[in-house]
Amino acid sequence: MPGRIFISFEGGEGSGKTLQAQTLHERLWAIDVQAKYVHEPGSTPLGTYLRDYLLRKPRLSREAELLLFEAARAELVISEIEPSLRAGFTVIADRFEASSIAYQGYGRNIELGVIQYLNAFATRGIYPELTFLLDVDPAEGLRRVGSPQLSLPLEPGDAVQPGRADVEGQRRFEDLPLSFHERVRDGYLNLARGDPDRWIVIDGTRTIADISNEVWRHVSKRLKLPENAGTIHIRSKS
Ligand code: TYD
Repeated sequence: MPGRIFISFEGGEGSGKTLQAQTLHERLWAIDVQAKYVHEPGSTPLGTYLRDYLLRKPRLSREAELLLFEAARAELVISEIEPSLRAGFTVIADRFEASSIAYQGYGRNIELGVIQYLNAFATRGIYPELTFLLDVDPAEGLRRVGSPQLSLPLEPGDAVQPGRADVEGQRRFEDLPLSFHERVRDGYLNLARGDPDRWIVIDGTRTIADISNEVWRHVSKRLKLPENAGTIHIRSKS
């Protein structure tokens, strides 16, 4: 079966992109399209290590935080993404370079040019040709987030909203100011507006099956697959 396309899923907290990325992965395999699923940060020993580190260290400079995400990305590209694409696999990335633009750029206010430069270095110029943005109002997305995830720590001086801290005392997503998540969302929407050939914006409040079908419509077109190929295996939310 034809393959070899690089797809990423992006979105804010609680946007449902992981479920959609994994569903697409299963749906491709169901019709024998070789596909590789990767999740940032993670999916390599360094990525897993850095994920764990980011989870444990609540206070980091924004510069160091960006560099850790970029280090995880470089390792992922070199050890997984590039070889998979070369072997003819379709690669599905659950977050990729646009997460750094949205979170560290728009969210943390790091100059976008710096991030673009580091992204180009870390990715070796390998960018997704198709990106799904699952767009959800941050207030709704944050309401949906119920399980422990890697959280971005607060910057000193950020206003803390009442909320939970996890067992290590680390602030959770819920504690980050809503304005941070709104900047992230605006950042994503700006990116999408700037490159409509690559970005597909999907309303993340639609039903899971609806969104899966919309994703499939675009992917099957790019891969020149029949639109009705394969069956959908909707996983329960992880
Ligand atoms: P994760 O638990 O993987 O959440 P999600 O399911 O939303 O992907 O946590 C990843 C967190 O790291 C998420 O808050 C976004 C953030 N992040 C960045 O800030 N910059 C990046 O470059 C990446 C890849 C992730």
